[in-house]
Amino acid sequence: MNLPPVIAIDGPTASGKGTVASLVAEKLGFHYLDSGALYRLVALGSQQAGIDPKNASALGQLTKKLVISFKNGQILLNSEDVTEVIRTEEIGLRASAIAVHPEVRQALVGVQHRFRTNPGLVADGRDMASVIFPDAVLKVFLTATAQARAERRYKQLIAKGISAKLEDLLHDLQERDARDSSRGAAPLLVASGAKVLETSELSIDQAVKTVLDWYQSAIV
Ligand code: C5P
Repeated sequence: MNLPPVIAIDGPTASGKGTVASLVAEKLGFHYLDSGALYRLVALGSQQAGIDPKNASALGQLTKKLVISFKNGQILLNSEDVTEVIRTEEIGLRASAIAVHPEVRQALVGVQHRFRTNPGLVADGRDMASVIFPDAVLKVFLTATAQARAERRYKQLIAKGISAKLEDLLHDLQERDARDSSRGAAPLLVASGAKVLETSELSIDQAVKTVLDWYQSAIV
């Protein structure tokens, strides 16, 4: 039996892959997986439970027990709406710290595979193409320079009325890039067969169109 098609979109933090991936999913009528949200949920859950980000086995146990659901644009953790809470820089940094543990990553594999339903899935993250959906019909590595990404994040936060400093954001995302790229388990990398999309000079519409064009070429 043929499994539903997957478009895997990986890339560093604040590269715009979430925005691009969700728009591509909308255009195609596909489901959308924001895998980073799962790591953020584990970060929040473990913070609430007082678990040290270095305690791999306790984190693995906790991950298996978390009740996670995505409903109508809302993200629920153990029935609590945490859609906004998981988006802070603090939770992002903690997510990258807990994501180094194979115990945590393993506990999230099944959760991610369950998103693959008809008519298809657009999955965004760090290891979508390399580990979770290696048979993806299209693999995209979406990136932008650190400066461009920090500026985007800065504008998003200011638009939401959250105060931020550009230098701090740049420093945080460089720290996260370094950790995500150098870890032993599922490091951030350009998967074999992935097409690189450099978006520093592209609008969101141009990036979305490029991915849709690549997808059309991939399925003929
Ligand atoms: O994409 P986002 O910034 O929400 O991800 C938060 C953190 O979760 C990343 O910095 C990364 O360490 C981790 N992550 C991961 N694998 C994924 C998605 C996210 O390790 N597939």
